[in-house]
Amino acid sequence: MGEYEWLRHIPKTKRDDVLTRRSRGNDNSTYVTSTIAVDSRAQQTDRTLRSLLKTYGRDERAISVNFRRLVPNSDYPDYATHLIHPYPAKLLPHIPRFFLSNDLLSRPGDLVLDPFCGSGTVLLEAVLSKRRALGADANPLARLISSTKVTPLTHRVLRKAVARVLQAAKRGDDSTPPDVVNLNYWFYPHVIRQLSALRRAIVQARHRPTRNFLLVCFSVCVRRVSRADPRLSVPVRLNGDEYHSSHRFHRVTHRRLQRLKRTNVFKVIQGVAEANISRLLRLNGATLPVLVGTDARELAFPTTNGDLRTLRQNSVRLAITSPPYAGAQKYVRATSLNLGWLELCPSSQLRAAERECIGREHYAKVEYETPAEACIAAADRRLRQVRRDNPLRAHIASVYLNEMSQAIHELWRVIKPGGHVVFVAGDNHVTGRPFRTSSTGTSRARRASAMGFRQTAPRR
Ligand SMILES: C[S@@+](CC[C@H](N)C(=O)[O-])C[C@H]1O[C@@H](n2cnc3c(N)ncnc32)[C@H](O)[C@@H]1O
Repeated sequence: MGEYEWLRHIPKTKRDDVLTRRSRGNDNSTYVTSTIAVDSRAQQTDRTLRSLLKTYGRDERAISVNFRRLVPNSDYPDYATHLIHPYPAKLLPHIPRFFLSNDLLSRPGDLVLDPFCGSGTVLLEAVLSKRRALGADANPLARLISSTKVTPLTHRVLRKAVARVLQAAKRGDDSTPPDVVNLNYWFYPHVIRQLSALRRAIVQARHRPTRNFLLVCFSVCVRRVSRADPRLSVPVRLNGDEYHSSHRFHRVTHRRLQRLKRTNVFKVIQGVAEANISRLLRLNGATLPVLVGTDARELAFPTTNGDLRTLRQNSVRLAITSPPYAGAQKYVRATSLNLGWLELCPSSQLRAAERECIGREHYAKVEYETPAEACIAAADRRLRQVRRDNPLRAHIASVYLNEMSQAIHELWRVIKPGGHVVFVAGDNHVTGRPFRTSSTGTSRARRASAMGFRQTAPRR
């Protein structure tokens, strides 16, 4: 049976959909602002979720929810393998944990999908809750982190592999660095030499899951030993002189740059690998298979023989996802140094990689000369205002809305009768004007209801 074949055996049940959106309040609490739900047939229910849905359906008002309190766990954030690698706009693990810790929306063995899986927070929580998990992400680094996060390996194998890589890397320093964007701007020469030697030693590891684990650890080091400011997600070079000499950051930045000049990358990766081996051990052995695809608008997954197979319609029991926002996070730019060092995307291909991403920020002038409509009345009114000040920003937002529409259509195709969808969305600003992703989401939801999703709880 091919890796994908088990999807065939999912039985069909009566349609039962829930679409939940939330936006974040200033106090870090979360508001469930809209729910689409139909006739839940769960045998065992979670009382909290049931009562939230009931209250929401009755009062037609957003409910303030603090997921940290709903799912208390003092081990978070360093729980299981969640912190194996940083990633921009990571989801709070408590959110999927809450929706997966009851039988109301899915049961053990059910198929759970995150079509914008990023670093795999939902996928990990799904396998920890004994669901089968499927994820998709346009960013190859996200796919590498996601699959490594849920692949248990023994510490003996990993420690041996780390020792072998370090030994080989220390022996050879004549490796050529890969095509990394502005390499010499971001890294000191001795760091480039050590990273190149490490990369060469790692890619020689024959066992693929072990190699992927080593690559993830290597990727963590890349940002740590670069001159990029660790406080920012997109690379911005540290510059101590940016601050007045009496400013705290002047001292901190100069000290960091001095440390980087003497840094020993081999020691850094050893520390990262040790911490990540301990994290992998927390998976406690077996997890269920996770397949990771590349585009939320066309869900297809690799089979064991390397072919791509379209995800079957009506196959997913529960989807939980936090989609990208319009121009808010620069996933490709934020991970450009990692993508280069891992040879997942050479510098010349970064723009092409960005074009695969929903919510991207770069367009040629000819592309936005003709206004694009989002076909959502409220959004189009707002976008016409934005266009007067900044046609590029308006174009970014309308393309975003259209592409998210395609992703929602695809989601609709694969959700099985009786399935549920949980959307995690926040509002942002476009040229200083509030852009309510949540209310455009509601319009999308209304359109989704025309496709068969039924909205049982109202807009704010
Ligand atoms: C908000 S992040 C998800 C973060 C994730 N929940 C986590 O915890 O790491 C949104 C993700 O959508 C991805 N993305 C953008 N366009 C996509 C597309 N067309 N198909 C699939 N994923 C896409 C981005 O690469 C990014 O990783």
